[in-house]
Amino acid sequence: MPVTVLVGGQWGDEGKGKLVDTLVPGVKAVVRYQGGPNAGHTVYHGDQKLVLHQVPTGILHSGVLCAIAPGVLLDPWELMEEIATLGAAGCDTSNLVVSPSCHIIMPWHRLLDAAGEDREGTVAIGTTRRGIGPCAMHKAERRGVRLGDILDEQRLGSLLDSLLPRINEQLRVLRCDTIDRDGLLEKCRLASDALRPFVGDTQLPLWKLHCAGERVLMEGAQGTLLDIDWGTYPFVTSTSPVAGGACTGGGIPPTAVDQVVGIFKAYVTRVGNGPFPTEFPAGGFADEFRKLAGEFGATTGRPRRCGWFDEVAARYAARLNGFTGVVITKLDILDGMDEIKICSAYEINGTVYHEMPEDLRLLEEEVKPVYETVPGWPGRTAGVTAFTELPPEAQDYVRGLEARMGVPVEYVSTGPRREELLPVPRVR
Ligand code: GDP
Ligand code: IMO
Ligand code: MG
Repeated sequence: MPVTVLVGGQWGDEGKGKLVDTLVPGVKAVVRYQGGPNAGHTVYHGDQKLVLHQVPTGILHSGVLCAIAPGVLLDPWELMEEIATLGAAGCDTSNLVVSPSCHIIMPWHRLLDAAGEDREGTVAIGTTRRGIGPCAMHKAERRGVRLGDILDEQRLGSLLDSLLPRINEQLRVLRCDTIDRDGLLEKCRLASDALRPFVGDTQLPLWKLHCAGERVLMEGAQGTLLDIDWGTYPFVTSTSPVAGGACTGGGIPPTAVDQVVGIFKAYVTRVGNGPFPTEFPAGGFADEFRKLAGEFGATTGRPRRCGWFDEVAARYAARLNGFTGVVITKLDILDGMDEIKICSAYEINGTVYHEMPEDLRLLEEEVKPVYETVPGWPGRTAGVTAFTELPPEAQDYVRGLEARMGVPVEYVSTGPRREELLPVPRVR
């Protein structure tokens, strides 16, 4: 099985949805391998803008297997809504398969997530409040509930009997509403009835595609710097967006992966708290840029923090994921700027770091980004149909990022639509 893994190279929202949608015509399956309803992948279906949270982006194309693999933390009630929204938009969801091994984000997980964020004296992560952290915690503790459990009411009943006393005790201490067993059983019955037709094996069909030599696309959610092990912990998500996560969460063997594509914005954004070395200082420019770029969260609507391209973090992502190619999105947002900055190193406590420090918590100290300034371009990149017709400074900017990351840029994106994607010729 030739497998392409598509990974966000920054802190999420790099335009993964658009890229997957564009690459789908060459693949037989699209797989979500981690994350959950915290993700928001924006795509256009005709003139309709859709934001996909849990369903793989391949769903917009008929005949493509769309798998939600065991590494995804699943909110079944949100999934039901998403399926209904897709149906109303005229999308055929019959090729969706959800693994019974997906851990369920139960109502208590959302309550615990919110309580953890709001609790005085603790550091708020700025989560999406979708229950991701507590669900991952119970999964690791082996006290989780999986999709297969809610399909079997008896099994679910005894699981709830063993879990709920402790959960409710905890919720009471946190002054949250407690969970009513019968009400929850009813809620689960609804989800079970609605989702049963979609539940199935996600591994064997992928293996069969492997044997037939068909290409599979693994759709990452979040981004490398939000990875639980490799990101700016504790300001991270609770799953593994890095390319390796596609194997553990998606059930594909590492030997099958032959392409790892990194998606980067031409600048950087971050939602939620945590270090962000190249963030624009608060004020007029930051606000104007955010507005112009439309940088508001696809899942929560929160304003995204914006900043200059960070070469140090990009090289770190390239190393960790083994990118074979890179895509630069939202180049059009930089149109008309007099000059553009690129961060080539960090100065922290008097030491200059050209590569990511081994302890990323150093980034929480005062980081002075070392910037190189390059010329902007007067014309528009939006609407241009070939890379070589872009303003020369825009081509140089992209080539500069390529050289800094040491990975070929395969495409640049100059707008949110499928067709606004330019192949970049290889430099020999
Ligand atoms: P994802 O989570 O990585 O799929 O990204 P999001 O959908 O959260 O955010 C990316 C946003 O940028 C969406 O609103 C896309 O429609 C938009 N977008 C993607 N590529 C481009 C581009 O090249 N130019 C512009 N202007 N918008 C883009
Ligand atoms: P996509 O797939 C951007 C961020 C949250 C918060 C941190 C932890 O659209 O790129 P969580 O709810 O996961 O416990 O929150 O991770 N975060 C994202 N930021 N894009 C995402 O997904 C994100 N998913 C989670 O803002 O800082
Ligand atoms: Mg997003």
